[in-house]
Amino acid sequence: MITPDQLRRKYLDFFKSKNHAVISGKSLIPENDPTVLFTTAGMHPLVPYLLGEPHPAGARLVDYQKCVRTGDIDEVGDPSHLTCFEMLGNWSLGDYFKKESIAYSWEFLTSPAWLGLDPRRLSVTVFKGDENAPRDDESAAHWKAQGVPEDRIAYLPASDNWWAAGPTGPCGPDTEIFYWTADGLPPPGSNKGTDSANWMEIWNNVFMEYNRVDEKTLVKLPKQNVDTGMGLERTIAVLNGKSSVYLTESFQPIIAAIEAVSGYRYGGDPAKDSSVRIIADHVRSSTMILGDHKGVSPGNVGAGYVLRRLIRRAVRHGKKLGVEGSFLGKPAAVVVDLLSGAYPELSDNRERVMSELLREEEKFLETLQKGEHEFEKMLPNLLKNPQKIMSGRLAFKLYDTYGFPIELTLELAAENGMTVNREEFDEAFRKHQELSRAGAEGTFKGGLADQSEATTRYHTATHLLHKALRMVLGDHVAQKGSNITAERLRFDFSHPAPMTPEEVQRVQDIVNEQIGRDLPVTMAVMPLEEAKSSGAMALFGEKYEAMVKVYTMGDFSKEVCGGPHVERTGLLGKFVIQKEQSSSAGVRRIRAVLE
Ligand code: ALA
Repeated sequence: MITPDQLRRKYLDFFKSKNHAVISGKSLIPENDPTVLFTTAGMHPLVPYLLGEPHPAGARLVDYQKCVRTGDIDEVGDPSHLTCFEMLGNWSLGDYFKKESIAYSWEFLTSPAWLGLDPRRLSVTVFKGDENAPRDDESAAHWKAQGVPEDRIAYLPASDNWWAAGPTGPCGPDTEIFYWTADGLPPPGSNKGTDSANWMEIWNNVFMEYNRVDEKTLVKLPKQNVDTGMGLERTIAVLNGKSSVYLTESFQPIIAAIEAVSGYRYGGDPAKDSSVRIIADHVRSSTMILGDHKGVSPGNVGAGYVLRRLIRRAVRHGKKLGVEGSFLGKPAAVVVDLLSGAYPELSDNRERVMSELLREEEKFLETLQKGEHEFEKMLPNLLKNPQKIMSGRLAFKLYDTYGFPIELTLELAAENGMTVNREEFDEAFRKHQELSRAGAEGTFKGGLADQSEATTRYHTATHLLHKALRMVLGDHVAQKGSNITAERLRFDFSHPAPMTPEEVQRVQDIVNEQIGRDLPVTMAVMPLEEAKSSGAMALFGEKYEAMVKVYTMGDFSKEVCGGPHVERTGLLGKFVIQKEQSSSAGVRRIRAVLE
C-alpha cells in the first residue's frame, strides 16, 4: 500500500534527483487572473514563467498543487472524476523537452525503484496533427524508444491531445499516459483510441511551445516548455489496485464518516452509493476552498457561488440518504485531518471551515423548509388539475423566489402523484440564466452548472447546426424556431423537401468536425447594421436592440444571439441527429442530442 503522503514525497524526490527545484503549491484562488475562479492545474500559478519570465528557482521545477475544476461536475459520482484533486507537476522552462520528459515519466512509473507499475498495463496518446501543428511523431518515437509498442500508441485530435489553460495563454500538443483498469492484461491492439472505458488517464505531459493570443492567432513562445500533471488520487488508486478513487485512503475515511452520520452502509444501493460519492467529493472540495489561504465564503458570485452550490448539492444528496439536519461537519473534520499534513492552512483554518459550513447548511435547510411549505400551500390547487401536471411557471417561482431546487419540486410532485411541465421550467430557467449571465459575462467560467450547462451546450450546438444546414442545403435555410431542454435540441428551419439520409449524415459530420476542431466561442457587442454587414446571421423579422451581441465560433459561424454559449466547441461532445421530420408546410424539424 502506498499513501498519498508517500506518493507526494516520491514524486518530489524523483524529480529532485533529476535536478528539479521543489517549489510550493499555491492558493486555490488564482492571483491576478480574473479569467478563472479557481486554480485548475499545477501550471496555473506558473503562467508568467511559461510565457518567458525567468523563475527565481530555475528552469526545472516540481511541486504538488491543490486544484478545483467544476467543468466535470456532471461526471462526479462516477469512479474517477473529482471537483477537487491534487496535481503532481514538473516543469521545464526552456530546458529539456520531449525526449527527457517522456523518459522521466516512464522511469518514474515503471522503475521498481520508484512506482514499479507493469509497463504492459500502460498506453499513451499523442497529438494527431491539424492546421495548428503537425502530427507529433517525435513523441511517438520517444515512447517507442522506451519500449512502448506501436499498438499502445493512439494518435488523437486536438480535442484529446491539445492542452490549454484557457481561451488565451500558453498551450500546445500533449501526450497522455493511461493505465489499464480492467482485470488481466489489455488485449493486443487496445489503447485509448480503441477502448476509452478501461483506460484511465493518470498523467499528461504538455509541450507548451505556443501562446494563443486570440482566437485566430497562435504564436511560438520564446522557449519550448514542458508542463506535466499527474492526478494524485487516480495514481493512488492504480498503485493500490483499486478500481475507483473513492475506494482509496483519500476517500474511505470520509465515506466512513458519511456512513456514520447517515446510517447508510456504502455498497447497498447504486443510487445511494452515487450520493455518497457526491457528498464525499463535495465536502472535500468545500473544505479545501473554505480552508484555503484566501478564505472564500459561500456567496452569490464568483468562487463563493461555486462553494455555495457544492455545499447545497451535498446537503441535497444527504437528504437522499435520509439525513435530517446538518451533517457535513463530521466528514469535513475528517478531510482536515487527512489533508492538513500536505496543506497546513487547513488545520490553521479549522474553526473557520466548521463554522462557515454549518452556517451555509443551516441556511439552506431553512430554504428547503420554506420551499416545502410553499409547495404545500400550492398543493390543494394543484390537485384540482385533472391532468396532474404542475406548471413549469410555478416550479420556476419556487426556484426563483425561494431558491427551491427543481429536483426537489419534482420529488414533491411525484410524491403527490403529479408531474411537472419540465419544458416550461427549462425555458423560464434558460431566460433567467441569460439575463443574469449577460450582466456578468465570463465570471461564471469554470463555475458550477448542472442544468444550465446542459442547455448552454445545446445552444452552441444549435449555431453549428444552423450553419451546417446552410452549407449542405443552401442559403434559403432560415431558422424558424428553436427549443432547447437539458436533454436535446429541436430546430425548425425553412426547406421545401425532406432531407435525404446522406444530407442528414453530412450535416451531422460537419457539426462534429467543428466540435473536433475545438473552436473558441467569442462574443462582441456591436450595432445591428455592423453585425449584418460583417456577415453575421440574424433572424429575419426579429426586433433587436440597436446594439446586439454577435457570437463567433472560430472561422465557422457568426450569429446574432443573446447567448449564453460554452467557451469552446470542444466542450459539446458528440452531436447526433435523431430525427428529421416535417414541422409545417415548407418547414422541417431536426431533433438532436449531444452524447
Ligand atoms: N496542465 C496539464 C493538465 O492539467 C498538465 O493536464
